[in-house]
Amino acid sequence: MASKHFFIFSLVFLTTATFLLAGQCSAHDPKVSTALSSLCSDADFPQLCLEITKGASDPKSATQMAIQALILGATGLQKSNLDTCVEVYDDAVDNLHTSLANIQSGDKAALKSNLSAVLSDIVTCDDSFAEGGDDPPAALTKTNKVMRKLGSNCLALADEVHF
Ligand SMILES: *[C@@H]1O[C@H](CO)[C@@H](O)[C@H](O)[C@H]1NC(C)=O
Repeated sequence: MASKHFFIFSLVFLTTATFLLAGQCSAHDPKVSTALSSLCSDADFPQLCLEITKGASDPKSATQMAIQALILGATGLQKSNLDTCVEVYDDAVDNLHTSLANIQSGDKAALKSNLSAVLSDIVTCDDSFAEGGDDPPAALTKTNKVMRKLGSNCLALADEVHF
């Protein structure tokens, strides 16, 4: 589970970094470029270092820019969408446990209501991306799709339950 979250976060960060890079477009100063080349030459990812620190005139400003890029990646819009998904899926798990209890206690109305809440949790996760104009990570889209089908089936089955 933890590694899954990290995987999603990695995807998010890559996406954000790519977005950031695409948005970077500063004038080309050969002197600065040379200085940055030597600054970045010791980095593990020199090309990325160059692109992230474009326009920096010294190691201090380059480091500040590199830190800003990380801050952007760590606090980006997509991450807040993922936070929403983590939150609503936690809520969905609670509602699913309650649904099981509803079956035990023979409360059909509560069962259907709790299962509907589960479906709406899943939709909320999808919508958080739709509203932000971002595509969710592919793995999440896949999960949501299956979750919707499972949730819809649960509701259909619950409809047939007679206590
Ligand atoms: C879920 O079921 C409980 C009863 O166990 C009920 O009190 C609660 O309102 C239901 N939740 C929703 C979201 O309908």
